[in-house]
Amino acid sequence: MKSIVILISGRGSNMEALLAAVARGELPVRVAAVISNRPDARGLETAAAQGVPTAVVDHQAYAGREAFDAALAACIDGYAPDLVVLAGFMRILTEGFVRRYEGRLLNIHPSLLPAFPGLHTHRKALEMGVRIHGCTVHFVTPALDHGPVVVQAAVPVLDADDEATLAARVLQQEHLVYPLAVRWFAEGRLSLDGGRVRLAAERPQPAAL
Ligand code: GAR
Repeated sequence: MKSIVILISGRGSNMEALLAAVARGELPVRVAAVISNRPDARGLETAAAQGVPTAVVDHQAYAGREAFDAALAACIDGYAPDLVVLAGFMRILTEGFVRRYEGRLLNIHPSLLPAFPGLHTHRKALEMGVRIHGCTVHFVTPALDHGPVVVQAAVPVLDADDEATLAARVLQQEHLVYPLAVRWFAEGRLSLDGGRVRLAAERPQPAAL
């Protein structure tokens, strides 16, 4: 069974969705650890309460991005995961870090990329007046929020929406598509091939006897 490490910075609801899918038997991975760059990340308690090892690599303890990323990589590599899953991890990663985990580093972003990279995606969607918004799971590349797309989910933008209602509608979809993408990876069906996403067809189930 493949193992994953989940990186968080705060609430950790996507991490919870992944842990819940594992607990339901729908996601065949071992969650080796949850790592946060913030000691006060709420998700750390949730993970610990479910018996998942947790670790903190506090970015404030390091002089710069290179030093922080080196410490983070050392922490991750201690768990030897097959896949690193960014779930609300709010640090820009250096090119060296991203290259180290090329093809085994996934992120979820709350917009239909390439629309609205960066922060405040729901506010930007409302300001732009788009009628369709959503979320994207992608392989991470050095360009921020620009990696090859694995899966997206779209939601309507309603006239009555504010940032909170739109964010909640998108988050519901995040909690569905992230476990799905990680499951594809766990099953050996999802890979990055020459910078392009390759998703192999599901193996046919053996006929019931
Ligand atoms: C999620 O909406 C995730 O897509 C977003 O942060 C939120 C984290 O929520 N990530 C980014 O904006 C990364 N660019 P969570 O901590 O409850 O999973």
